[in-house]
This record gives sequence, structure tokens and C-alpha cells, in this order.
Amino acid sequence: MRRVYSAPGDRIETRRPVTVSRYRGFTRVNHWLAAACTIVLLLSGLAFFSPPLFFLTALFGGGATTRWLHPVIGIVLFFSFLVLFIQLWRLNLPRREDVEWARKTGDVLAGHGKNLPELGKFNAGQKTMFWGMAGLIVALSVSGVMIWEQQIPLWRDHAPVLASIPARRIAVAVHASAAFLMIMLFILHVYAAIWTRGTIRAMTRGTVTGGWAFRHHRKWLRELAGRQGAGPAE
Ligand code: HEM
Repeated sequence: MRRVYSAPGDRIETRRPVTVSRYRGFTRVNHWLAAACTIVLLLSGLAFFSPPLFFLTALFGGGATTRWLHPVIGIVLFFSFLVLFIQLWRLNLPRREDVEWARKTGDVLAGHGKNLPELGKFNAGQKTMFWGMAGLIVALSVSGVMIWEQQIPLWRDHAPVLASIPARRIAVAVHASAAFLMIMLFILHVYAAIWTRGTIRAMTRGTVTGGWAFRHHRKWLRELAGRQGAGPAE
């Protein structure tokens, strides 16, 4: 059967009660790596942002260690998210039903599921988060390397190689603004994962219940059921 809404590893595990695989082990480990990197980056970044927050460097072994750790973890996050991006971008492309879902945010928040359209693997909120995080990670990485340039030993004696001083000033502003938006998205993402009951286990155990899939991502579930020989109604 043609795959539109689901990833290759997704499948209905058992019929009674129905359990559905949502993320493979590799994806889950990589997701938590990205999450851990983001937390380290936010805390160490805040430590550099304002003197009253400098005490946060103690978490990482002092100012000097934090200074090299922050950009190195930034590189790890870039590649970790790149893998997530390659795996998930297609399923995060906007679809017609996303517009209707987004227009009915009131029903989403009030839990009136029957007024909402059937959805594939991700809803418009998750998709916005996905593209937002992708854009911000690129902005943070590019502006971060521009600021970091002077600390890179090979380039240190020939700076500025990549960016002039005025360009670096802009990079600092971009870096701080993107970090602020990233903190907002991060809070929203974690809040949504906890608020939608039964979601956290998708990233811990890798599975969700059939009821969860039917309620929140029915097109995804129907496609998996069709793929495994059961009729969509079943
Ligand atoms: C402690 C913090 C975090 C928690 C508790 C958390 C939890 C979750 C959960 C439960 C899901 C599955 C949602 C679903 O399948 O419906 C998910 C998906 C995802 N998370 Fe996180 N997450 C955290 C941090 C992060 C961070 C920092 C990033 C990015 C740097 C991230 C990127 C993603 C992506 C890309 C997805 C897939 C959703 C999509 O592609 O639209 N998460 N997260």
C-alpha cells in the first residue's frame, strides 16, 4: 500500500488491545540526545547572556569549560536534529486538513475531537514546531559559528575570516533572538507533550495506544491498518 502519512517502521503491534509503534529505538535515542543538547545549550547560553546568570556555568565546571562546551554541544545538536529532520520532514509537510485543524484551535483546546479533521502522523501544531525548530537551529548554528570564529585555533590568527566585526554584531543579535524563540518553542513542545495524555510514551517506549492514535492521528492509524491487511473500519 502507498505510504502517505506514516514512516516505514510504524506498525500496529497487537490487535487487542491495539498498540501502535510510533518511533523506532534509534529515533528515540536521537530525539533525547537533541533534547539533552538543547537543555545544556539553553542553560549555558543563559549563563553567557547576562552576568546575574553567570553562576549557571558552575553546572558545567566553570566559565572556561562552559565557553568551549556550548559551541561543541551546538554542533552535536545540529547533526542530531539534521538526522531527525531527514527522517521526519516529509511527514511534516503541510496538508489541506492542517488548515482546518489550525482554524479550530478552540476545539483542540476544549477537547472537542469530533469537530476536528482526521490527521496523519503529525498535527499542524507539531508541524509548526518542527519547521520552527529547524529554522531556529540553522539560524543559531550559522550565527553561532560567526561569533565562535575567534576561538577556533586554526582561524584565530587570521580573524576575521568568515565575518567582519559589524556582521558579527548582527550575528550576536540574531543568536540571542533565535535563542529566545527556541526557549518559547521548547516550553510549548514539552507542555503539549505532557498535556496530550498518552504522548510521552511515544518517545519513551516508542508506542501509543490504538485509542490515542484513533483520537489524535486517525489517518495515520487507518493507513497502518490498511497496510497490515485490516480494513480501515476495523
Ligand atoms: C525534555 C524535553 C522534551 C520532551 C519531554 C519531548 C517530548 C516529545 C514527545 C513525547 C514527542 C512525540 C510527539 C508525538 O509523536 O506526537 C516528541 C516529538 C518530537 N520532538 Fe521532542 N521533546 C523534548 C525536547 C525536544 C527538543 C529539544 C527537540 C528539538 C531540538 C525536540 C524535537 C522533536 C521532534 C522533531 C519531534 C517529532 C515531531 C514532529 O516531527 O513534528 N524535542 N517530543
